Amino acid sequence: MSKLTGSKKATQFTESVIREMTRLSDLHGGVNLSQGFPDFPAPAAVKASAIEAIQDDVNQYAVTWGARPLREAIAREFTRRYGLEVVADEQVTVCCGSTEAMMSTMMAIIDPGDEVVVFEPYYENYGPDAILSGATPRYVTLKEPDWRFDPDELAAAFNNRTKAIIINTPNNPTGKVFSREELEIIAVLCRKWDAIAIADEIYEHIIYDGHRHVPIATIDGMAERTVTINGLSKTYSVTGWRVGWTISPPSLTGAIRKVHDFLTVGAPAPLQEAGAVALALADGYYTELAAKYRRLRDMMLDMLEAHHFTCYKPFGAYYIMTDISVFGFQDDVEFARYLVKDVGVAAVPGSSFYANTERGRTKLRFCYCKRDETLIEADRRLAKLVPVGVSSGSSAKGGR
Ligand SMILES: Cc1ncc(COP(=O)(O)O)c(C=O)c1O
Repeated sequence: MSKLTGSKKATQFTESVIREMTRLSDLHGGVNLSQGFPDFPAPAAVKASAIEAIQDDVNQYAVTWGARPLREAIAREFTRRYGLEVVADEQVTVCCGSTEAMMSTMMAIIDPGDEVVVFEPYYENYGPDAILSGATPRYVTLKEPDWRFDPDELAAAFNNRTKAIIINTPNNPTGKVFSREELEIIAVLCRKWDAIAIADEIYEHIIYDGHRHVPIATIDGMAERTVTINGLSKTYSVTGWRVGWTISPPSLTGAIRKVHDFLTVGAPAPLQEAGAVALALADGYYTELAAKYRRLRDMMLDMLEAHHFTCYKPFGAYYIMTDISVFGFQDDVEFARYLVKDVGVAAVPGSSFYANTERGRTKLRFCYCKRDETLIEADRRLAKLVPVGVSSGSSAKGGR
């Protein structure tokens, strides 16, 4: 057999469905509500500091595990918000986005045969992260409408081989915010089975309706077994800058830093300088960010409901998971393709968030990190959709 093929690992997962939907959207001139990146500007002070850093010739490699001002800002802010001491030199590693932070963490802690518990639906990167690091994923389902997990099912997913559990709160794609009680249940299992919690908290500041973000690292006995992952992308609307980080117990930092070093050497140096400025923004910035997204969420919920989608209301992050059964398509992928090609709106097929793809067959995820004009244009286009059984000149079924 020819050796001119991809590795076994690389054939075990498909290209990103989310990024594919973005390409299809560009091809068909769609309103892109698939990939979660804002189409409005980043804060002026943050942009100005990046420009200044380049003009000041901050152009060479930063310290591999992150420029000191950024690492110290990350440690300082975590301590200020959550009262848990973080030592920048021993615990913070700056990476190329939280995507790399997650991959470096997984590669740093996983050995062949190790299992990792993953809640589904999950952010699609976690599947390939598990495969590339050699972990065997064990999925536990979050069930709509409120996306709770069954504590017995979760307990049954842990065993001697469990090395870690991935928790994403606030959650993509569901908008679920894990409660302290739920995190306590997870913490008990982590302590019982000596497992690591990998907490993807990238939507930490995008949270609504009085919900509070609880980092699992702050729960009793968890600081020494939690790797917290976060980044600039979502909080400061700079997804293209590629700056993220890990906060790890000192016992794991060395392994994470070594993997990070040989994967990427380091994150963009001038953007790390700007990151330190971003993290120093006044608290009002975060309050306004959450208020802005809450308004967009409400606008998007009204719009999708008016166009016959069943919506699961999110309490954090900037996505709405919907049920599309009413449109009568067999398949979420077929519906998503129809939506982008014939209606001109891109969204993500629900099945791409599930290991058991059948669970996502009637679901579709929309993002709303967009300007009002963008959402209004999507609203105008979605008017073309008509549920099965409702007569119209151009029904969705007829449009296939
Ligand atoms: C849950 C989650 N984690 C990580 C990322 C990627 O973040 P970054 O841009 O820092 O790599 C995303 C982006 O959509 C996400 O939704």
